[in-house]
Amino acid sequence: MKDLTNKKILFIICGGISAYKSLETIRLFRKNKAQIKTILTKNAKEFVTPLSVASLSQGKVYDDLFNLENETEMDHISLSRWSDAIVVAPATANSIAKISQGFSEDLASTVILASNKQVFLAPAMNVRMWEHQSTKKNLKILRNYGYKIIGPRIGEMACGEYGKGKMTEPLDIYNEVFNFLQQNSKYKKIKALVTAGPTNEYIDPVRFLTNKSSGKQGYEIAKSLYKRGFDTTLISGPTNLTIEEDIKLIKVETAEEMFKATQKNLPTDLAVFSAAVADFKINKKIDTKIKKKDSFIINLEKNVDILNYVSNHNSLRPKLVIGFAAETNDLDENAIIKLNSKNCDWIIANDISKKNKGFNSDFNEVTIHYKNSKKKKEKLSCKRKSEISEEIVDRIVSQFN
Ligand SMILES: Cc1cc2nc3c(=O)[nH]c(=O)nc-3n(C[C@H](O)[C@H](O)[C@H](O)COP(=O)(O)O)c2cc1C
Repeated sequence: MKDLTNKKILFIICGGISAYKSLETIRLFRKNKAQIKTILTKNAKEFVTPLSVASLSQGKVYDDLFNLENETEMDHISLSRWSDAIVVAPATANSIAKISQGFSEDLASTVILASNKQVFLAPAMNVRMWEHQSTKKNLKILRNYGYKIIGPRIGEMACGEYGKGKMTEPLDIYNEVFNFLQQNSKYKKIKALVTAGPTNEYIDPVRFLTNKSSGKQGYEIAKSLYKRGFDTTLISGPTNLTIEEDIKLIKVETAEEMFKATQKNLPTDLAVFSAAVADFKINKKIDTKIKKKDSFIINLEKNVDILNYVSNHNSLRPKLVIGFAAETNDLDENAIIKLNSKNCDWIIANDISKKNKGFNSDFNEVTIHYKNSKKKKEKLSCKRKSEISEEIVDRIVSQFN
């Protein structure tokens, strides 16, 4: 039976003529035992009443960002955390534009911006609005952010025109969300380990050698995996980044600490090693602070190779081992050498010689090199690290399917 017992759906209704169909959609989710809370935009209330939504959903209806009663009972952040998925139906051209640009001037857009859950959009609008370049551009942005767009359909519109723009039927919306939640439950049993950030290798108690890695790409991969339902652990070197509470975060400083934390978290089903682990450490760390007057020589020795250890482990090797190669030159050649010498399944190569992408930037351009696949490599063009991580996780998901 396609039932959604214990699943929590946050519905957002925008101000479009198909808002009446969202009542039927809500009824269908409710009939299949989902718990429902609803947000109406100010304009949605011109089309459906909070009372009819409340009685059909048997759940609370919210409409105001600045409402003391709502904010004390369930604030706008908790509301986004409460749900297993967010369904925006109908999604108007206006709301699509706002969400794609990161506006958050009402409750609906604020909750979406603050959300760490899968967002589904069921657009509904006049065919010209749908075909407008700006709507197309906004939807492309949202698709790249990982939003799922359901429909619209072709048909006769309320305004009398004919074309694409009709909201997808309630049953099809239900099936799409149901399939996603069911898959998500499946991935809950799959353990994913991600490493991110730089490591610090101490010279004395206050000085260390490090590198320019920000950890952004690894954090984004952990977030994307978590959003798809994977049981995700992130081992992070020193960064200024934060992550959702539900992702298990282990903070470390040195390569040795990262290695121990990785060992502790094996076995895992898949591992993504995106951390820029220092290749060298100080041969003999000095226990007290070195004084200005002291003269000294730093001797380096090879650091522990975490990727190599994991991908060559007899019994604990994850099914899928993904390494990263950050290179300034001969990107492909060096990545292929790493792919083979470290026994990984994939190597994701990124060029760190450019200022506007790679290390410390919000953007990245990567090439995935595959070991045992017909496709030998795939280039993901320059885009936000959040979008790159969605594309990487799409490929991980198909591997596990
Ligand atoms: C009768 C009527 C029907 C409308 N239907 C739609 C629609 O189907 N899709 C859409 O994108 N906008 C539609 N609009 C325009 C939206 O209501 C308008 O863009 C509004 O700002 C949307 O607000 P919201 O996105 O905050 O809910 C309609 C407007 C009117 C007056």
